[in-house]
Amino acid sequence: MTKPQDIAQPVGKGQSGEPKKVLLVGATGFLGAKILANLAQDTSVKVSAMSRKDRPFDAATCVEWVRGDLMDPASLDKVLAGVDVVVSSANGYMKESIETDFQGNRNLVDAAKRAGVGRFVFLSIVACEKAVDVPHFHAKKVAEDLIVESGVPYIFVRAPAFLDQSADYVADAVKAGRFYAVGDKTTRWSYVLTDDLAANLASAASNPGAEIVNQTIDIGWRDGPKSQEELARIISHLLNKPLSIWTVPWIVFRLLARPVRLFSELGFDLMQMFLFFRKGEFVSEISRQEQFFGPAPTSRDAIARWAKANSLI
Ligand SMILES: NC(=O)c1ccc[n+]([C@@H]2O[C@H](COP(=O)([O-])OP(=O)(O)OC[C@H]3O[C@@H](n4cnc5c(N)ncnc54)[C@H](OP(=O)(O)O)[C@@H]3O)[C@@H](O)[C@H]2O)c1
Repeated sequence: MTKPQDIAQPVGKGQSGEPKKVLLVGATGFLGAKILANLAQDTSVKVSAMSRKDRPFDAATCVEWVRGDLMDPASLDKVLAGVDVVVSSANGYMKESIETDFQGNRNLVDAAKRAGVGRFVFLSIVACEKAVDVPHFHAKKVAEDLIVESGVPYIFVRAPAFLDQSADYVADAVKAGRFYAVGDKTTRWSYVLTDDLAANLASAASNPGAEIVNQTIDIGWRDGPKSQEELARIISHLLNKPLSIWTVPWIVFRLLARPVRLFSELGFDLMQMFLFFRKGEFVSEISRQEQFFGPAPTSRDAIARWAKANSLI
């Protein structure tokens, strides 16, 4: 088997001397759209964006939309022809099926290998190797292992908890003067603002250096993980607004995880994830982030930008 380091190449120009061709898988998602916006502004790459739906060429951004389905290997062979770099933030566990995260990722890795892709930037999750009981975390680790085994040069960008979500329940609660905490107020874990994560993923795709290849890069804040009480305190201070913290105790997740599984795999997955958070191991180690992407933002900076985006300040 070819070892990844034997074929790792810096991403500069493509084989024809043209800008490298980057395929973004998951480009229509909440995070995916932000990665796409970053890639579209980068003149050193030519971007195509994959979706299962038909979309027109976007003349304003020069983004070419291609049709592909992670569950359909033949469609992946088609969209990967001539691609230098693949970036994937796609997932199915939240809205459809976790099979996308297992079989779909396997199909993508196999197709990337067949196509001779020069770099695979994969959005993974911090500490996923320690979370075998959390199905969607485990799926990330399985995919990482498949990519390494395939010999395709890789960059794993590992995200912690998103501060912002597509339905921003934290912002909604804060508007009502509340902060809902999972489990307890004191256990710390790491966070990221998706604007920052998206910029990091795009930068991993276009970084011309060879040093970034075959690296696993945790993303987080410069001042480390935060407890939910600390998070609430920073928000409260920035907004100059008192927040009452409402905590759902760990016992609720412990007692409900298995019964919930009877009618919701996603509910079970999320409860297992919260129970993993309790261990205090969902913590980013940001030295490689700072090496490759520059100084990590502080919690105050990220939270201030999040608050502004949600018209909280
Ligand atoms: N939320 C968190 O706190 C957190 C923390 C760490 C990491 N993450 C990771 O962050 C990512 C979230 O990304 P997001 O917000 O952009 O996701 P999203 O809004 O749920 O969008 C899902 C994307 O996946 C694509 N997709 C789903 N099934 C597909 C299939 N069979 N074939 C091709 N594409 C498929 C969809 O494309 P089409 O529907 O257009 O085909 C869409 O672009 C996930 O990888 C998640 O695991 C989340």
